Amino acid sequence: MRRIAAALIPLILVFALASVGRAEEPAKTDAASLDKGKGVYSAQHCSMCHAIAGKGNPKTPLDDVGAKLKPEEIRKYIVSPKDVKVDSKMRGYPGLPTADLDALVAYLSSLKKK
Ligand code: HEC
Repeated sequence: MRRIAAALIPLILVFALASVGRAEEPAKTDAASLDKGKGVYSAQHCSMCHAIAGKGNPKTPLDDVGAKLKPEEIRKYIVSPKDVKVDSKMRGYPGLPTADLDALVAYLSSLKKK
């Protein structure tokens, strides 16, 4: 009897942890969309004005933007910066396909200094 319990407890723990992990992870921050977001970031040349991990223009680093802004704020900044900051030097990207924008926002939201 004790042996069965000893065998079952780790199993239950594994299942419990697996379901917690799944519940906490929003669908859009999976590795594939982070990669896609990275691709959009470089395709749109955001690094002309921004730096991530020391690469790009050091004037406006985005390394901690995921801690500073909520995903919906990041989205708004990309689509229409002047609606967030009236005198913004950044141009908006209202023409990005929704899927690209989603991935880009997911990627930037994942950038947090620890
Ligand atoms: C021409 C330069 C330029 C380009 C290109 C540019 N940005 Fe920006 N961006 C800025 C500047 C400057 C700021 C900060 C102050 C402002 O808005 O003027 C900013 C701010 C931001 C912010 C808010 C950061 C914060 O800490 O509040 C985000 C998010 C952002 N940019 C994302 C992007 C993304 C994603 C791209 C590419 C699709 C991009 N930017 C392209 C110049 C640029």
